[in-house]
Amino acid sequence: MCGIVGYLGQKESLPILVNGLRRLEYRGYDSAGVAILDKGIIKKVKSVGKIDNLAEKLSALNGCASGGKDNKMSGTAGIAHTRWATHGGVTEENAHPHTDCSGKIVLAHNGIIENYRELKIELGETHKYTSQTDSEVLAHLIEHYYKGDLRQAVQSALRRVRGTYGLVVMHADHPDMIIAARLGSPLVVGVGDGEFFIGSDATPMLAYTKKVVFLEDGEIAEITLAGMQTFNLRNQNVIKKVEEIDWDEAQAELQGFPHFMLKEIFDQPVVFKDAVRGRVDQEEGTAHLGGLNMSEAQMREINRVILIACGTASYAAMVGKYAFERLAGIPTEVDVGSEFRYRDPIVDNHTLVFAISQSGETADTLAAVREAKRKGAFVRGIVNVVGSTIARETDGGTYIHAGPELAVASSKAYINMVAVLLLYALQFGRSRRLSLATGQRILTALGEISEKMKIILAQSEKIKKLAEKYKNYQNFLYLGRGINYPVALEGSHKLKEISYIHSEAYPAGEMKHGVNALLAPDFPVIGIMTKNQLYEKMSSSIEEVRARKSPVILIVSEGDIKAQELADEIIYVPETMELLEPLLNIIPLQLFAYHTAVLLGRDVDRPRNLAKSVTVE
Ligand code: F6R
Repeated sequence: MCGIVGYLGQKESLPILVNGLRRLEYRGYDSAGVAILDKGIIKKVKSVGKIDNLAEKLSALNGCASGGKDNKMSGTAGIAHTRWATHGGVTEENAHPHTDCSGKIVLAHNGIIENYRELKIELGETHKYTSQTDSEVLAHLIEHYYKGDLRQAVQSALRRVRGTYGLVVMHADHPDMIIAARLGSPLVVGVGDGEFFIGSDATPMLAYTKKVVFLEDGEIAEITLAGMQTFNLRNQNVIKKVEEIDWDEAQAELQGFPHFMLKEIFDQPVVFKDAVRGRVDQEEGTAHLGGLNMSEAQMREINRVILIACGTASYAAMVGKYAFERLAGIPTEVDVGSEFRYRDPIVDNHTLVFAISQSGETADTLAAVREAKRKGAFVRGIVNVVGSTIARETDGGTYIHAGPELAVASSKAYINMVAVLLLYALQFGRSRRLSLATGQRILTALGEISEKMKIILAQSEKIKKLAEKYKNYQNFLYLGRGINYPVALEGSHKLKEISYIHSEAYPAGEMKHGVNALLAPDFPVIGIMTKNQLYEKMSSSIEEVRARKSPVILIVSEGDIKAQELADEIIYVPETMELLEPLLNIIPLQLFAYHTAVLLGRDVDRPRNLAKSVTVE
């Protein structure tokens, strides 16, 4: 969590930094701050709350509405930070950037300094602190080691640190220099023409450059106007590759939508195609995901698949389980990262582990990757953010190509995770027992999904009316069976995250074992009852719900007139093959959660207490 931005070049840095913070606001939005190096003087401005508050403060300052000429923020080198509080409350003092006693060293930090108390004691009482954060101690530690060489001082300080960091540091006496370092918290350096951009991810620099360098753990970059040099903590030079990213600036814009979440829901028909394009072979009825990095023989030896993920990604993984078992006949488990890492999982060199993550930085998923690798499994990533830690630490895998997802609540990444998992299941299936005809049928059906998604999206206004009618209920129950059970879980997850309404999801067959006790007229039930092998079972469960007078909202297949007898409200979705239903059935639930949250006045893109990229345990 927390977002870092930096700029060094010829341009006025402030707008670049503030716009960069806006791009990273999904990483934290408790408070924000910026520091600029202006003619040998470091100037800082911080503010509690959203980036808008900081921007207002800065424009007041620069417009001379408050302060005089000396307070104006101007300069071609600067760093900025948006915070998701861990140590120390949400106050201006605790917002980054932080300075040392002299005010000459300034830094922004993402991560946790675990031994900050010990370091503070060791530094002694001569150091004066202005915040309760663990991060500020780093500024004083660098001050302690500083003897004229900023990089060496940062290196010496970081050798003393236990914990994680993405870090940017400036010094008033080194006007054309930013030091950047990473261990456990991502940092990307954008390489422009005589200028450098730094970000927790690549989105702040998309408007300026597509050339990036991903720092690895334990690396420290000395960035000056003359160029960038990278070292490890032992001060050995590390040669870095400049990579090209294919994300577009436009993809990170609202493009007329009121919120990123709505835009990203409407992006789905397009980005879904990006996940599939070039990866399927209609003639052979199979998929080719090159990143798997396994020979046919190795693939045949796999006797178990484990899908590891958190949150929404774990619900996509549950869909993947059905696909792997049905198409490839491989026993498949789903584990959330935070559980896998601590339960001494049984994994061996016949196990294929997929780590599924939008951000590629989720600490629990990453720890699970490391544990599975230690135990000798094949570990592959299914990741959205290019160059992210999970993408680099796995021995192969596939990017889901959803483009930047900026709303905290995931939508299009879920769709593309499901798509890639289906392709993997198909590829394994075809190398084992799956018939050519079935493989081809799946691919034909996949080819129709994008247009079918559009048919559902066209019902957004209708779903908004539904949200208007139901927005004041305090509880919701989502029901699904088979492949639609994970869809119910994800639909319920969306509603909780952004509307703050309590909701639960159950496999409908479980109702009679306890959950029926909740049913009452003030407890609406949302059922996913599309035409598949469990349709009759699902419809019996809904009969039971009706008998107990809960209002019923049903997602059903187009043309299912009979379902109207069971429901107070109906949303129709186009029919598809059962395995592909999650790609469609989630969309009305995303829209229902979105419209409900908007109508309740929630901050849809930045729900309370959450951050998009959870880089702490
Ligand atoms: C849901 C959501 C979270 C994430 C979870 C995993 O809308 O945003 O539940 O799905 O934190 O994040 P990634 O996929 O980045 O590993």
